[in-house]
Amino acid sequence: RGEDDAAGRAPAGEEAIERGGRILREGGLVAFPTETVYGLGADATSAAAVAKIYAAKGRPSFNPLIAHVADIDAARREAELSPAALRLAEAFWPGPLTLVAPRAAGGSVCELARAGLESVALRAPSAPVARALILAAGRPIAAPSANRSGHVSPVTAAHVLGDIGPRVDLVIDGGRADKGVESTIVAFLGARPRLLRPGALAREALEQVLGAPLEGEGGAAAVVAPGMTASHYAPMARLRLEAEELRAGEAGLDFGGRLAERGGEGPILDLSPSADLAEAAANLFLYLRELDAGGARAVAVAPIPAHGLGEAINDRLRRAAAPK
Ligand code: TXA
Ligand code: MG
Repeated sequence: RGEDDAAGRAPAGEEAIERGGRILREGGLVAFPTETVYGLGADATSAAAVAKIYAAKGRPSFNPLIAHVADIDAARREAELSPAALRLAEAFWPGPLTLVAPRAAGGSVCELARAGLESVALRAPSAPVARALILAAGRPIAAPSANRSGHVSPVTAAHVLGDIGPRVDLVIDGGRADKGVESTIVAFLGARPRLLRPGALAREALEQVLGAPLEGEGGAAAVVAPGMTASHYAPMARLRLEAEELRAGEAGLDFGGRLAERGGEGPILDLSPSADLAEAAANLFLYLRELDAGGARAVAVAPIPAHGLGEAINDRLRRAAAPK
């Protein structure tokens, strides 16, 4: 497995991109940073390559994957994008938005990547490493988050290596994924666009471009993308949401210093001391992993506002708190 260290980690750069592109074309697995979280990539046009993703993640079933493309033109070769879908793509691509649409006749994304559906999920990521890798591969890259099934999504190369390192041919280390939560998924399959998963792009921004409210409440109880089980984002520790103070034996996941203000014994990590939702989203999975690594058994989580990126943060927290 090459020149670099045993797990196949390489710092982002021309050499790593070129090698990654070659591995993908040959049917291997490459983990890479996007602006949301790290993805576990394979050639989206090859069922044999995509099958390796499911095996590496230990996914219990075949859930459809997002195909990452370079731009709108590439997306239009894969899906029938309606005028409204195109408006969103023009406004937010490259960026943390995934569009689900009917697949185009002659599209190249294989059936296994689509889990047999007649629709396909597409995203043009903005992270330069991801864009360069897509171009180097010369085809769409299927990529779920690069974690073992059931773990929180990785935002650093170290998370990826710890979770699935030995099963990946190359991990491209591009530092921290800056948004820290997954892309927002919008489906254009019925009469009206539907929010399948709240994410790093706020609902309000999408609705402004669409000029209409999105269907789908997007919370943990709502209709979700297939494969988004309640405990999908589960950390080890038990979470108590909307907590106003620390109880005995609890660690704290704070927002805006609210828990710290009330005092208490346990360690507290503040998602954003200045109560900034983008900063909180960026820190969420990192801090959940830190609390687990520190051996926390129970965690009190401060209330997080529901608007903007708070919708995605609260969604992931409810999933993380759901019984396993
Ligand atoms: O930010 C992200 O979206 C990251 C990075 C790597 O791009 N990827 C990611 O992938 O979060 P994953 O596999 O963890 O989540 C993809 C979600 C799944 O919940 C899946 O069910 C949904 O997208 N999905 C994919 N294709 C779909 C389809 N045709 N219809 C409905 N949902 C679909
Ligand atoms: Mg995932």
